[in-house]
Amino acid sequence: MIEAFAPGRVNLIGEHTDYAGGLALPMAIDLGTTVRGTSGGDVVRLVSADEPDPTTVPLDVADPASARPDWARYVAGVVAELRPTTGFEGSITTTLPLGSGLSSSAALELAVALALGFEGPPADLAALGQRAEQIASGVPCGIMDQLASACGRSGHALLVDFADGSVQPVPVPPEVDVWVVHSGQERRLAGSAYAERRAATERATTQIGPLGSATLADVHRIADPVVRRRARHVVTECARVRSFAAAIAAGDVATAGLLMDESHQSLRDDFEVSTDALDALCERLRSESGVLGARLTGAGFGGCAVALVAHSTPLPTDVRGWVVRASDGARRR
Ligand code: GLA
Repeated sequence: MIEAFAPGRVNLIGEHTDYAGGLALPMAIDLGTTVRGTSGGDVVRLVSADEPDPTTVPLDVADPASARPDWARYVAGVVAELRPTTGFEGSITTTLPLGSGLSSSAALELAVALALGFEGPPADLAALGQRAEQIASGVPCGIMDQLASACGRSGHALLVDFADGSVQPVPVPPEVDVWVVHSGQERRLAGSAYAERRAATERATTQIGPLGSATLADVHRIADPVVRRRARHVVTECARVRSFAAAIAAGDVATAGLLMDESHQSLRDDFEVSTDALDALCERLRSESGVLGARLTGAGFGGCAVALVAHSTPLPTDVRGWVVRASDGARRR
């Protein structure tokens, strides 16, 4: 019996910076996806505990995006990228809420790749998962989700510099907990709006160079007001990631919380990926005693908020939320 597990991730700070060569600070969480089964045969056949229909993917699958049911596109994307020579028969279970911005698709891709025999360093596993995600979904996503799931370290967030792919574990201070709370809104329009945001940052990059190392003075040279605002988000967000990492290393969790609030404002006003439900949820969380800061997490357009809270603050009983812990990355067990 083969068993592979891959965690979801929550991003503490640094949103929409990965594909722009900037910085982010995600962590793998203790919710994730498990694939169990045996290898053999010449197809990958999987049943999911959360979905009514199984999937059968041929090893020579030609068009992963047309695999059915919908979730099978991610399995087919992995098969197309990995090209295993032996099939697999097994089942998928997950403790992640699906389609909520906690990277359930990245966890599925990485768990399937490991179950199908992927061998190699975590960075290569992440790159394979990212390619599978792009082919399966048609969304030009960055690599943050897969990298966080592949490289997770118990008790640590990961300071990722997407300019060179470096990943530096940063201890999460014991005096804080991390909450993930669902806005009640499934993500909407994520694909086309995501591609549009990415294109705007690419236009900015052609004008002022890589946004990970650009300054606000560079941003002011951008003539188009929308492109300028998108670039301003990325440049200020990278500065906030640096300040956040320094603040938690110094035990200054109050400053870290304020930086999360500022990140949300920038995502709302400059990058325009928040929603009324996410804004209201973050406001509400900030009004709870013990909450140090709150922001949307993931691509936006719905899904979840993340909050940094004083250790052992009780999660409000009237929200759909989770107290998540920083966990190890994807692995075969
Ligand atoms: C999604 C993408 C990531 C990243 C975030 C926004 O989760 O998959 O690559 O761009 O949105 O930070």
